[in-house]
Amino acid sequence: MTFARIAGTGGYLPERVLTNKDLEQMVDTTDEWIRERSGIKRRHIAAEGENTSDMGVNAAKKAIEAADLDASEIDLIIVATTTPDKVFPSTACIVQRKLGLKTIPAFDVHAACSGFIYALDIANRFIATGGARTALIIGSETYSRILDWTDRSTCVLFGDGAGAVVLRASNEAGVFSTHIHSEGEFEELLHVPAGISSGYDVVQQEAAFIQMKGSEVFRKAVATLGSIARETLVGNNVEQDDIAWLVPHQANLRIITAAAKKLGLPMERVIVTVDEHANTSSASIPLALDVAIRDGRIKRGELLLFEAFGAGFTWGSALVRY
Ligand code: UT7
Repeated sequence: MTFARIAGTGGYLPERVLTNKDLEQMVDTTDEWIRERSGIKRRHIAAEGENTSDMGVNAAKKAIEAADLDASEIDLIIVATTTPDKVFPSTACIVQRKLGLKTIPAFDVHAACSGFIYALDIANRFIATGGARTALIIGSETYSRILDWTDRSTCVLFGDGAGAVVLRASNEAGVFSTHIHSEGEFEELLHVPAGISSGYDVVQQEAAFIQMKGSEVFRKAVATLGSIARETLVGNNVEQDDIAWLVPHQANLRIITAAAKKLGLPMERVIVTVDEHANTSSASIPLALDVAIRDGRIKRGELLLFEAFGAGFTWGSALVRY
């Protein structure tokens, strides 16, 4: 059997840091409120002219180096993003050019905060069926560009960044299973109303920015993450004690804590970066994974559970042996 195995990871955060104290100067909020309700202390903000592809390339270079391979061995690129550089071509094609890679398939996946799990699901299927041997998957987002910086209910929650993972075909266990879902009926609880087919003229007006019914999203996220975790454990005949690390999407510390509790996992076995990164959407899981691999917490051979929930609604999970 051929598995997709994580060969290397990389992360990138823009230089500029925006603290809760900085936000106190911009909107009617407090450091205390943001920490208590979300667990967020600071976030990174892309520089002017620094785009989703630039951050993705920076993360990808580190993942390629960690995987100890020549970039020319990559035969598939998938970029998960909801903040592409352009309407088209895809950000994946722009990343391909910037990495100097020729003619391999490259495409974007749009599943909001669950984008990385969707990209992992697709890349895993490519590798398992022989369609690719070395896949580069990237989650990269510049949410600072779709935030209304006068709306305190959303602008304090998000940040920019990118994470990347190189997956290689291997006889050794890697990705055991992926589970992805969506429920479009909740479209309007979390969305950016402006679009292409619905008209360009609204861009830069209210409709061009994130709008969210926070507490409704919160409740649905907690309930759904509990059921997706169970689905993954049951599907693989695995107990929660077998999981070394939960690497969740980083939207809110209270959501992460509630999901870990439902799973019966102590917070000592949960990777948390939301305090430092805020919600970086599809970049949050690969960024958190990279942080914990590089600081030595996640070790080779350990069993990892990824889980995500986002706009759509979309959600997903993956069980992976690192
Ligand atoms: O990645 C997936 C997508 N996103 C999420 O998963 C986020 C899900 N939701 C959440 O994380 C939480 O619902 C929030 C952090 C957004 C909000 O926390 P909450 O405990 O659900 O608060 P709330 O929305 O019920 O608001 C409580 C109060 C409101 O005031 P009133 O109506 O009670 O007087 C808000 O106006 O807090 C107020 N508020 C703020 N106050 C200070 C909202 N934003 C702020 C703010 N600073 N930044």
